[in-house]
Amino acid sequence: MAKRIITTELMDEDKGLESSLRPRLLDEYIGQVKVKENLKIYIEAARQRNEALDHVLFFGPPGLGKTTLAGIIANEMGVNIKITSGPAIEKPGEMAAILNNLSEGDVLFVDEIHRLNRQVEELLYPAMEDYAIDIVIGKGASAKSIRLELPKFTLIGATTRAGMLTPPLRDRFGVVNRLDFYTVEELKTIIIRSAHVLQVEIDDEGALELARRSRGTPRLANRLLKRVRDFAQVKYDGRITSEVAASALDLLEVDKLGLDNIDREILTTMIEKFGGGPVGIETIATTIGEDVGTIEEVYEPYLVQNGLILRTPRGRIATEMAYKHFGLWQL
Ligand code: ADE
Repeated sequence: MAKRIITTELMDEDKGLESSLRPRLLDEYIGQVKVKENLKIYIEAARQRNEALDHVLFFGPPGLGKTTLAGIIANEMGVNIKITSGPAIEKPGEMAAILNNLSEGDVLFVDEIHRLNRQVEELLYPAMEDYAIDIVIGKGASAKSIRLELPKFTLIGATTRAGMLTPPLRDRFGVVNRLDFYTVEELKTIIIRSAHVLQVEIDDEGALELARRSRGTPRLANRLLKRVRDFAQVKYDGRITSEVAASALDLLEVDKLGLDNIDREILTTMIEKFGGGPVGIETIATTIGEDVGTIEEVYEPYLVQNGLILRTPRGRIATEMAYKHFGLWQL
């Protein structure tokens, strides 16, 4: 069977509903205020000039809306979006075929762009800069290089690890945006919007409880909303109140700060096995049997942002707040 390297739809864990939870327009998008303001101007300007939007890079922890924003950009520009990811494209020829099939102005979204292999990445340089690629035909002495002109397109790259992008690739993006964790208020608004789409009844306090425990992440907020909805439907009268949300989330082992089992394991390992640190990230990873990259990209950013872990040159340190969270602070 042919390998699938392109998905044209914005799909997620369970398509359909999940994609309808994604906003389609900038004005429906909640949070990331600065990013939104800037994008609005660039989109408007490109539209007025009838040009493709400049290439855009989004970076930041997973679940904050990189794919959603790419979809919104394509929608606002009135163009198609082709979606693929760094590890899905193994050969330069595959990337050449994708680029060659784009129409004028189209968006090519490459998720996990830091995982493109070197030859594929190098093909992108002239594609991004000159909308052209050089293809070598034939072998040995009779080999010839021909230049293939491409339609003017917009590359939208997403990565959880901006530090892993090579400078030549990073420098070819005209617009670079960092996505931050959402505030509790923003998440609450997103949850109320999603509850409306899913036709589930939720009160303000219920939405607030869910928002507080969603790790600043809309993807998690929407996932937890669905699980709490099931709970409300089977155990209660279907309505999500703060009590319903709190007891469902306790059952799901999501604590008051939104930490899950792995977050807690990271922190308790640091405290109980390494005296609170400083301890190296590799040591933590080995001790709990998790991948270093996953801890750095997925878990640590939220723990750092919320003051539970400090990053120092000598290693990670569990803060007073981390000790207090587990009732371990003694004077
Ligand atoms: N659903 C997921 N993320 C969202 C966002 N940022 N705004 C509105 N709805 C969302």
